Amino acid sequence: MVVGVGIDIVSPKKVEEAIERWGQDFIERVFNPEEVNPIQKGKVYYQRLAARFAAKEAVVKSLSKNYSLALKDILITNLPNGAPVCTFKKNVDLNVFISISHIEEYAVATAIAQKKNKE
Ligand SMILES: CC(C)(COP(=O)(O)OP(=O)(O)OC[C@H]1O[C@@H](n2cnc3c(N)ncnc32)[C@H](O)[C@@H]1OP(=O)(O)O)[C@@H](O)C(=O)NCCC(=O)NCCS
Repeated sequence: MVVGVGIDIVSPKKVEEAIERWGQDFIERVFNPEEVNPIQKGKVYYQRLAARFAAKEAVVKSLSKNYSLALKDILITNLPNGAPVCTFKKNVDLNVFISISHIEEYAVATAIAQKKNKE
């Protein structure tokens, strides 16, 4: 059963500025190592970080108020085929499906939360 949807949009430029200002502190406050380590420092580095930030916010929006999660409890990674996937560092009885897109000016993400079937 679908229980929520979420969407968010983030400016890669703002993420770049935050990292210039706060450095590693900003990255560590928002992301887990397994989220940032696979992202190569290149042309789309800030776009991809912004997209992961947007994905986390979209996931939060898709959850009901019953779930209290910090951004770092939400893990955004990629499957071997490149598709983004959301998992949690805490025990959460939901599957959240996400989709990501990014260009120079914007990074967007959507999330659809589905209650896990009880076994
Ligand atoms: C994957 C693909 C859809 C990305 O689209 P794009 O317009 O280049 O780039 P976008 O910014 O919109 O999307 C990029 C995001 O798509 C997601 N993505 C990558 N592979 C994916 C897949 N197999 N399934 C779902 N999402 C995927 C990723 O999250 C990626 O961002 P990330 O690398 O930072 O995690 C595209 O590169 C692709 O391979 N398309 C298939 C082309 C094709 O087969 N076309 C012919 C018939 S339709």
